[in-house]
Formats: sequence, structure tokens, C-alpha cells
Amino acid sequence: MNRRAGKIFRRPVPRPRAHPVDLAEGLERARLLDRPAQAIARLVRRALRPGAVKDALHGVPAGHPAHPPLTDIPLGCWVSAAILDMVPGDDDTERAVRTLVAAGLASALPTALTGLADWSALHREQQRVGLVHALSTVTASGLYAASLLVRGRGGTAGGKALGFAGLTALLAGGYLGGHLAFRQAAGANHAESVIHLMPLGWHDLCSVDDLPESWPVHRRLGYISLFVLRQGDDIHVLADGCAHLGGPLHQGRLVRQGDDTCVICPWHGSTYRVKDGSVVHGPATGRQPAFETRVRDDGIVQVRPAG
Ligand code: FES
Repeated sequence: MNRRAGKIFRRPVPRPRAHPVDLAEGLERARLLDRPAQAIARLVRRALRPGAVKDALHGVPAGHPAHPPLTDIPLGCWVSAAILDMVPGDDDTERAVRTLVAAGLASALPTALTGLADWSALHREQQRVGLVHALSTVTASGLYAASLLVRGRGGTAGGKALGFAGLTALLAGGYLGGHLAFRQAAGANHAESVIHLMPLGWHDLCSVDDLPESWPVHRRLGYISLFVLRQGDDIHVLADGCAHLGGPLHQGRLVRQGDDTCVICPWHGSTYRVKDGSVVHGPATGRQPAFETRVRDDGIVQVRPAG
């Protein structure tokens, strides 16, 4: 804004060109999605009780989320079908396209279930984007189902048109899935960097007398936040920020799991063994970084990354 001879001249702010990421960032802020998102998330959480099925859907046995690799199957099938639809073909080509469309549909259900499980334990902004991602992929599945039906009745041209419409919805959903995973870090291991931030060797942490018995506390080592639990002579130290989305583990609840003491993250219930940070229950799939400990003669607790 300039003032000249008592007049105010406004200099127009150049409008940045619209990019797809602007739309995705707009979805992050779209509060009108909160009500349906929260209602669906509540239903999913009610249906998925902690246990083996929920853990499998999150990908706990695999050590990373199950949803992203599963999305490759319908995506691969339907993109292949679209390529075959774009080249001149015969009856064999038509049969191959139908097989690919059907295989994509068959793999869509487990893919959707894993995504739903992960989505139900995300931050609000992630759930907003995730909801539209899900709507796009459900639309794509519906269009491919219709395409298969029409092709089965001999309507190849109509089936192709529905297939291309499905591919468009699928690619839009895939773009939002990428935004969710790489811009909003849903599914990423949020504790992976901790070990790299700590120099090698032993580091003084605190006096053993400052640690209450069987009560987790938060301690800082430089700018690294640690979960510290003393149980008699044993001192367990984990990275404090949960691997799932960074929740504060020192505020979590302690439980027994067989012979092990575990901590439950207060945000979404990921459960870790305190002795080594291994995952007992998801949504976290990555081990929580753990530290070796020792106590010096003068009572100072020292830690170093577990090898
Ligand atoms: S932040 Fe989600 S379970 Fe810990």
C-alpha cells in the first residue's frame, strides 16, 4: 500500500497459481468434514477392539502400515486395464480387461479395511483429507463395479467410459493418499530420528534418587525427550514421542502383558514393552527407540542408544 498526495494506492497482491496441493491443504482446514469424520471414526473404533485383527489391519506384524502396499494391487490392476482399453484389442483383450477389473475389485475390500483402521487413529486434519481420499476411492470402486457389469452385458464402449471415470476418481484419491502419507506424515514412524540425534556413547541423564518408583517421568537429554521408568533396580528409557504420531508416552498408563511391563500411549492406545520398545498393539507399527541404562557410583543414571 502506498500513500501519495493524501491518496491510498493499493498494490494488488499477486495471486499464486492454483496447484493440486492448494486443494489438499484446503481439505486439511475443511472443518465441515469433522462431523461425518468423527462419527465414522467412532464407529470404526467401536468395531475394532484392541487385538490381533486390529493389529493385523494396522500392519503391526509386518512392522509398517499394511495399507500403502495393498493399494498397489487395485491401482496396478485398474491402470493395466486402462492401458489395454486404450489400444486396439480383440475378445482376448476384453477378457483380460475384465479379469483385471475384477481382481482390482476383489483387492479393494482388504485395502479399504486397512485404510479405515489407520484413518480412525489420526489427527483431525489428517482425517479430513483421509475422508475425501476414501470417498474418491470408494467412488472409483463403484465405477469399476459398474464397468464390469456393463462389460458383462456386452457394452464394451460403456464399460470403457465407466472404467476411465473410475481411473480419474482413483488418481484423485491416490493424490490425496500421497498428501496424507508424505505431507501429513500419516503412517510414518515419528520416532525414527531420535536415535540419530543422540551422539554415541554414554550420557548423564539424572540422579537415580530423582526417579519415582514405578511411575513414568519425562526427562530431557539436550533437546531429546525421554520416557523414564524406574522399577526397583531396573531403569527403562524410551524415546518419549510415540512412533505413531508423537504422543507423550510418559503420560501413558502402565499395564502388565504377560511378564512384561508395557506403556499405553495416551493418544491412540499404541502399546509398547518398556524393556525394549517393541510394539504389543498398534496403531503404531514401528518399535519405540529404547536406550541402555547404567547407574554410576555417585547415583547418576547414564543412557546410550540400545545397540
Ligand atoms: S500417538 Fe497415536 S498411539 Fe501414540
